[in-house]
Amino acid sequence: MTEQAGRRGGGPDAGATDGRAGYSDEQVAALYGVLNPWGPSDDFYLDLVMGAGSVLDVGCGTGALLRRAREAGHAGRLCGVDPDQASLAVARRRADVEWVAGTAATIPWWGEFELAVMTGHAFQVLVADDELRASLAAIRRSLAGGGRFAFETRNPLARAWERWNPANATDVLDPAGRPLRIAHQVESVAGEVVTLTETTSDPDGAPLRVDRASLRFLGPDRLAAFLAEAGFGVEAQYGDWSRAPLGPSSPEPARKAEPRRPGPPRRPRPGPPRRGPPVPGPCQPRRPPPPPGDPSGSGPVATGRDGSVIQSLHEPR
Ligand SMILES: C[S@@+](CC[C@H](N)C(=O)[O-])C[C@H]1O[C@@H](n2cnc3c(N)ncnc32)[C@H](O)[C@@H]1O
Repeated sequence: MTEQAGRRGGGPDAGATDGRAGYSDEQVAALYGVLNPWGPSDDFYLDLVMGAGSVLDVGCGTGALLRRAREAGHAGRLCGVDPDQASLAVARRRADVEWVAGTAATIPWWGEFELAVMTGHAFQVLVADDELRASLAAIRRSLAGGGRFAFETRNPLARAWERWNPANATDVLDPAGRPLRIAHQVESVAGEVVTLTETTSDPDGAPLRVDRASLRFLGPDRLAAFLAEAGFGVEAQYGDWSRAPLGPSSPEPARKAEPRRPGPPRRPRPGPPRRGPPVPGPCQPRRPPPPPGDPSGSGPVATGRDGSVIQSLHEPR
C-alpha cells in the first residue's frame, strides 16, 4: 500500500490479491521506495535506532530503516522481520543486517533487543484480536530488560480512509521508468477495520494488479488496553513526528504516559531456536531524556523500564 493508505507491501497486509499477472510482487517491492521516499517518520525512527545497541524492525518491508542505520554507522545488531519474500529480497541486498521471514506473532527471540519498532503503519496490519495479542506478546518477549517498542498508528478520529479514493490517485514512474497509476478504493469500514483495494494500472487506467488490505484503527483507550495486557507500559506518546504531545490539535486528547514496573522474570519457553548472537542485557536507553518541555529534545521524554512503549498516534505525512 502507498503512504496514502498505509505503506505498500505484499504479504498478509495486502490480503487477497485479485490479479498479479500485469505487475509482479518483485516489481511492487521495487516500486515501494519510489512511493515511500525517506521522510520525517523515518528520521524519527532512525534517531531511536541509532540510540539503541540492538534493534528489531518488525514488518521491515524492504528494510530501508535498518539499511540506513547501518550506512549511518550503527555497529550493533540490526534485525528485520517481514513475511513478504519480495520485500525481503530487496532488503537482503544489504548483507550486514539480519533479514528473517516471519510475522510479528512468530518472532522467535527472547530478551535480545533494546528496541523493537514497527514503522510505516505496519502495526495497523494486525487486525484480528488474536493476532494483535500474539504479536505484542512476541515483541515484548524479544526485548531485553529496559527494552522499548516504538510504533505509530493512525488516529481514527482523523478518518484518513475518507481520502483514500480514486480521485486521489498517484501517477508515478517505477524504477524501470514505466508510468503507473496507483489508486485506492475503500470497500468497507467495519468498526475499527477499514478494508481497501489498491489498484496498480497503466496511465490509461488498464489495471495491472489489485491488492486488498485491511487496516485496524485503534483508538487510544483500546490500544492502551492491548498494550497493558501484553505487559507494556506507555513511556511516551506523540502527536506528530516532531514529538509534539498528543493534544486537541492532534486531534486526540492528551494521555499521560507512565512507565510501568518490570514484570516478573521471564523464562524461555520451548519454541523455535533463537537466531543470531544473544545480546547482553539488561540495557538502558543510551541517551538521557530531554528536560521536560524541551522542544528540541532528540530522545524519548521519559526513561523506560521493561517493555515500555514510545508510541506515536498520528496522521500520515
Ligand atoms: C506498509 S509496510 C511497512 C514496511 C516498513 N516497515 C516501512 O516502514 O517501510 C507493512 C509491512 O508489514 C508486513 N506485514 C504484514 N503482515 C505482517 C505481520 N503479521 N507481521 C509483521 N509484518 C507484517 C508487510 O509484509 C509489509 O512489509
